[in-house]
Amino acid sequence: MTQDELKQLVAQAAIDYVVPETIIGVGTGSTANFFIDELAKIKHTIEGTVASSEASATRLRQHGIPVLDLNSVNEISVYIDGADEADPGLHLTKGGGGALTREKIVLAVAKQFVCIADESKKVAHLGKFPLPIEVIPMARSYVAREIVKRFGGEPVLRDGFTTDNGNLILDVHGLVIKDPVALETEINQIVGVVTNGLFACRKADIFLCGGKNGVETLT
Ligand code: 5RP
Repeated sequence: MTQDELKQLVAQAAIDYVVPETIIGVGTGSTANFFIDELAKIKHTIEGTVASSEASATRLRQHGIPVLDLNSVNEISVYIDGADEADPGLHLTKGGGGALTREKIVLAVAKQFVCIADESKKVAHLGKFPLPIEVIPMARSYVAREIVKRFGGEPVLRDGFTTDNGNLILDVHGLVIKDPVALETEINQIVGVVTNGLFACRKADIFLCGGKNGVETLT
């Protein structure tokens, strides 16, 4: 199976977690796009969606799926999204697509987080994938210096990229992530950081992992 076929497989499996007549949180990226295409097939069973990026909102609308403003929503039954890395404790690195902040906000409102990814995203320890950090533009150099001073690693400005929130992304290479919860919390204390791509304080509840033997459900 190709990587795209595995992504499609987990996207199909995620449909079982869609709660009828509720609002669904929708992530961002190529795996989330497969999920959006699957969701379109059952769109009449749900109340609507909240999207974690402009790109996902556009794709949802193209399918005729209602996209709601998060401020008009009290509860999201389930948030379904991909990841860049997932460790055995279901702590994730996300933000390869630069949507990490909105992803974390939509997730905060959701009751359950179902992560969908192909098996290439499964790792023993987070850190090989550079950790994305969304920063306020005027703070980018300060934040980069603080990251090196406090945690090591090599922050690289994502070239020519602006987030949906008008901010920048620093991708930090070479971090040793021993305690994802502590690192997520500590990075977020640096003034000028909007948030970082560790999803550890709020991790995935379920990881649907697509591999050659089909979909493995990890909890
Ligand atoms: C976007 C994300 C994505 O979930 C992550 O980058 C995985 O993307 P893909 O499904 O294309 O591999 O966090 O900000």
